Amino acid sequence: MLSKLSEAEKEINSITIANKEELENFRLRFISRNGLLSKLFDELKNVSKDEKPVIGKKLNEVKKLAEEKYSSVKQSIEESGSKAEEIDLTLPGRNFSIGRQHILIQTLNEFVKIFREIGFKVTEGPELEEEFYNFDALNTPEHHPARDLQDTFYIQNKFDKTKKYVLRTHTSPVQVRTMLANKPPIRIICPGKVFRNETVTPKNYFMFHQVEGLYVDKNVSMRDLKGVISYFVKKFYGENTKTRFIPSFFPFTEPSAQLDITCFICEGKGCKTCKDTGWLEIGGCGMVHPNVFKAVGYDPEEYTGYAFGMGIERIAMMKYGIKDIRLFYQNDVRFLDQF
Ligand code: DAH
Repeated sequence: MLSKLSEAEKEINSITIANKEELENFRLRFISRNGLLSKLFDELKNVSKDEKPVIGKKLNEVKKLAEEKYSSVKQSIEESGSKAEEIDLTLPGRNFSIGRQHILIQTLNEFVKIFREIGFKVTEGPELEEEFYNFDALNTPEHHPARDLQDTFYIQNKFDKTKKYVLRTHTSPVQVRTMLANKPPIRIICPGKVFRNETVTPKNYFMFHQVEGLYVDKNVSMRDLKGVISYFVKKFYGENTKTRFIPSFFPFTEPSAQLDITCFICEGKGCKTCKDTGWLEIGGCGMVHPNVFKAVGYDPEEYTGYAFGMGIERIAMMKYGIKDIRLFYQNDVRFLDQF
């Protein structure tokens, strides 16, 4: 009897059960009423008194082993079975997304490409800028409201007390750096980050991107400015887009203008985006102020030039109907995937 039990134990341990059918065979063979173990229990009454405790104990162990094996295999078959049922083979496969350029970079590149094609060189400058380039050289003297602490991040400089540093508030200082390092003709655009100490709202962020443009040569006039901007606007927004120049003020240009385009959503008829005016503001521009030329050592009698500046976020928000500037910086793929 003991040898029969050890044989059964060995088999129970080594047997592999692959499906429901084999599991049922296992149950019938070992555990069921007519199975091997029940039979051995019946035979127990014929065993001598001395052997009974040992054989009885063994029998119970083997029975437990068989029952445990049965229930664990049963559970795993059921689990894999229910998984198989969950798979719907008629569903389309899952797409996995490969990376792409951020919408701001896409917009910036499109912008830059148009100007490069007509001879503008791309130049960059530092984001941590000397106050001199950001303000003084751009005809923005000390008392000017634009220098107010409200708008500008001033940076403490412990090493060189003669210079004051700011996070640049616009890309215009790159004009100054470029003119100081080169002689006319100069034809550049400067894309980059700018910073302003503003309360964060859906329309304002403390950092955004601008593209600055500058052309300096002999006999450059406002007519050249209008031609280049109108060309850009048609390329970027579509052939039917019109441009208008509204008199405005910037310390570094004279005359200065606000740059408007016909609303590309309603094509000038009036809608929510253009607040029923038919026009959208995209930036500022003007003829370089003689004081700026003086600051970089150019003779304003010999040279003239135009400059412009446009905000990339604003342009992208209008073009794609994005309502909240903060979406650009949160890196939520559900937003980024749309472009
Ligand atoms: N720097 C101006 C700003 O941040 C934009 C600007 C206006 C740039 C007129 C220019 C310009 O070069 O001529 O609002």
